[in-house]
This record gives sequence, C-alpha cells and structure tokens, in this order.
Amino acid sequence: MSATLATASYIGATILFILSLGGLSNPESSRRGNLYGMIGMTIAVLATVFGPNVTSAGYGWIIAALVVGGGIGLYASRVVKMTQMPELVALMHSLVGLAAMLVGFANYIDPAASAEFTGAAKSIHEMEIYIGILIGAVTFTGSVIAFGKLSGKIGGKTLLLPGRHWLNLAGLLVVIWMGREFLQAESIADGMTPLIVMTVIALLFGVHMVMAIGGADMPVVISMLNSYSGWAAAATGFMLSNDLLIVVGALVGSSGAILSYIMCRAMNRNFISVIAGGFGSEGGAPASADGVQPAGEVNPILAAETAELLRDSKNVIIVPGYGMAVAQAQHTVYEITKVLRDKGVNVRFGIHPVAGRMPGHMNVLLAEAKVPYDIVLEMDELNEDFPDTDVAMIIGANDIVNPAAEEDPTSPIAGMPVLQVWKAKTSIVMKRSMATGYAGVDNPLFYKDNNRMLFGDAKKMLDEVLTALKA
Ligand code: TAP
Repeated sequence: MSATLATASYIGATILFILSLGGLSNPESSRRGNLYGMIGMTIAVLATVFGPNVTSAGYGWIIAALVVGGGIGLYASRVVKMTQMPELVALMHSLVGLAAMLVGFANYIDPAASAEFTGAAKSIHEMEIYIGILIGAVTFTGSVIAFGKLSGKIGGKTLLLPGRHWLNLAGLLVVIWMGREFLQAESIADGMTPLIVMTVIALLFGVHMVMAIGGADMPVVISMLNSYSGWAAAATGFMLSNDLLIVVGALVGSSGAILSYIMCRAMNRNFISVIAGGFGSEGGAPASADGVQPAGEVNPILAAETAELLRDSKNVIIVPGYGMAVAQAQHTVYEITKVLRDKGVNVRFGIHPVAGRMPGHMNVLLAEAKVPYDIVLEMDELNEDFPDTDVAMIIGANDIVNPAAEEDPTSPIAGMPVLQVWKAKTSIVMKRSMATGYAGVDNPLFYKDNNRMLFGDAKKMLDEVLTALKA
C-alpha cells in the first residue's frame, strides 16, 4: 500500500471515529456509533499492517499477535458479566499504558529510530519518549489497582500515607530532574538510568494515586484512567510518528476527560481534586459497611400489595440501580411496565448518572430489554416530578436515592445529587436486606413513613409482582 493510500485511509478512519463518538452520545444512535467505530478500527488496522512502515518480514509476528490478542479479547468479552464490565475496562486501560511504556523503551533503544533525529528534533523525540513512558506507566499501575479494587481483590478502603501530597510533589520534582538528565545524556546507556528511575516513580505514583481514592470516587477514576490511556496512546503516536494514533489518542483522552468532569458534577466531587488523586476522599471516604447500624424500624410490603399499589397508580417512576443488574431483572421490569402502561398508568424510568457500576449501565440494560427510549429519563429531567408521583419503585438501588446526600452534611455522600424518591406518595425499595450500597452508608429513606421495603432478590420479587398484576 502506498503512503498516500495509507494517509487517505487514516483520514477516513479518523472521520469514522469522530462519527462514532457522536453516535455514542445518544442511545438511539449508539448502535450506529459502534458500527462506525468498528469499521474505522478495521480500516486503521489494515492501513497500518499493509502500510509503508511494515515489511513483509513482520507479518508473521503481526498475525501471531493478532491471533493471541484477538483470542483473549474474544474469550473475555464472551465470559465477562455485565456487572464486571468496569473491571474489564480497567484491565484494558492497563494494557494501553503498558503498550505505551514498552513502545517508549523500544523506541529509545532502537538505533534506527534514534539515528533518524539530530539536534532539536532529537530532543523533541526524546521528550516524547519520556512523557509517553511517564503517562503509560501511571496509567498501567493505576489501572491495575483500579481493577483490583473494582473486582474486590484489593479492599475499597483509601490508603492515606502520611504526607502523601509531599511525597507526590517530591516524586514530581525528581521526575522533572530526571527528565533534564535524560535529555542531556550523551549515549543511550547514559540515558537509561534517569529513564528507569522516572519509570519506577511513575509506576509507584499510579499505585499511590488510585490507592488513595475512596470507593465512592472510583467511577470517576475509571473514566479518568480512560482519559489517561487516550493520552498514553497519543504519546505513542508521537513516538512512532503515527498521525492516526495521535488523533485517536486525543479523542479518547479528551472525551474521557469530559466524561470525568460530567461524572464529578453528578457526584458533587471536585474534578481537580480527583485528578490529583486522594484529595477527593477527604470529605467523602466511603464508610465501611461494618460500622453502619440500622437506624430505625422499616415497613415491609409483599409482592401482591406492591402490585395493588402499582395498579391503582396514575404515575409511577421506576429507579433502577446496581441490584437490577445483578439480578438481571430488566426483562421482568419491562414486562411489568407493559402491563401497567396497557392499564393506562404513566410509567417512566429515572436514571441517575452513576447508577450501577459504569457510565450508562442502566441505559444499556433497559435498551437490552427493549424499554422504549422516550420513557427513560435522566435524573434532571424528572426529579421535580416526584411530588406528583404515586409510586416510586426502587429496584436494587441505594446510594442514588439516599436523602442523606441532601440532608446530612456529614454524610460521606453529602452534596451528591440524588433522585428524590421520598417525595413520591409511596416509595417501594426492592432489595435483599438492609445492607448498604457501594458507598457503604446507611440510607434514611428506608425508615421514612411513606417508604415500604420489598425484601428479596429483585428478579424473584418482580416475577411475583408480575404474576399478581396479571391475576
Ligand atoms: P448501590 O448503592 O451499590 O446499591 C445497590 C443495592 O442493590 C445494594 O444495596 C444491594 O442491597 C442491592 N442488591 C444487590 N443485589 C441485589 C439483588 N440480586 N436483588 C435486589 N437487590 C440487590 O447501587 P446504586 O444505587 O446503583 O448506586 C451506584 C453506586 O455505585 C454509587 O455509589 C456510585 O458512586 C457507585 N459506582 C458507580 C459507578 C458508575 S460509573 N455508575 C462505578 C463504580 C461505582 P442488598 O444487598 O440488600 O440486596
């Protein structure tokens, strides 16, 4: 393939990636967005493999890598459960970071790559290598720790070393100093020492940064690492002089940063604090579930009574959360919705920006169950409607409907906007026990006079409600 054709393919792929991002911004166009992304990526891979920078001697390696990587990817995507998706994403980010790091080292010790540059161009190239390895290393260990925390292999508790901000600052100064040494090195062997010292500091910083972030801030960390992985890819693009990688990396980097910002706003966290690592946990460190004592009596309800209440309602808002995903109850939820809508009940879904365990988690599940998009509304679109709602049905959600976020300034989730389900005439919380949610805080909603608790697995209880509704 000629260089011109490769460049034209890269431009085509770039346009498809931009269209893909545009498509993914709305549930209705998201399938199309995914398709654009897949076509763009296929073109990008083909244009790279058959492009001017790969000789036929390399095909064996490339095919072997494609078979191994593709095989692992295919296997992982088949066995991973929807609720484990954030862990998988974190693991994938770590691979992007690792790749950026390895490409940086390979690029530095490759005599052909370094012979290409002299004078100022050489310094710029070395700076690209240095920064690329730096971002890659932070992304790599940060993502591995995030994976550990999300999968429960590492406790969700924050690790707050004494004087940790000073430690980070000292690390930063050493990294800057090592950068100077690296740029001034006369030979590759001389430059290796500062490069390795910086890499070790960056790897440790990645661990330290994510270990210091509390459980409640983890969603932001995931999208932040997503952003870092984009910048790591962009840095790799600079090292390899690959325009497509630079553009795609920048797209991922900036969209991840925007998503982090949106999620910070949704959770009332300060963006800069979370980015800097650790600061965000001071006011909002997740309390451990063990310390929480139930604070009162609750009113249980049976499935048959729930069905009766729903049948007699005019307006119902369903608030799904992580428990709906665990129980895989979305299909039954939709069956119930259909029955109620046929009876003339106005049923809508209220989606909190951080419901579940990943951005858009609930939207994906509801779309899978074929719930029409026009009755699935964002929190801001229906939060004022709760006073006119007869029944707010909360399915496996907890933190996102916790009134303490608004009423108790000392709560770890204070200030996080929540769905005001307690303002409905009756709220029904469907969960298995009095256990806390992700943030580990007790929920005063459960003890309110107008609240009922429907205890049990969400799928099982909803099946019973559906049977009662149909009877
Ligand atoms: P949570 O607050 O985690 O509450 C989920 C509730 O579901 C639990 O209290 C649990 O209570 C119940 N549950 C679990 N399995 C169930 C089952 N089979 N049937 C019925 N109920 C079940 O979830 P949420 O309200 O969706 O809030 C999300 C939380 O996760 C927020 O704190 C958010 O910050 C955090 N987070 C979000 C993300 C993103 S990006 N969305 C990523 C990471 C973390 P029982 O054990 O009593 O059943």
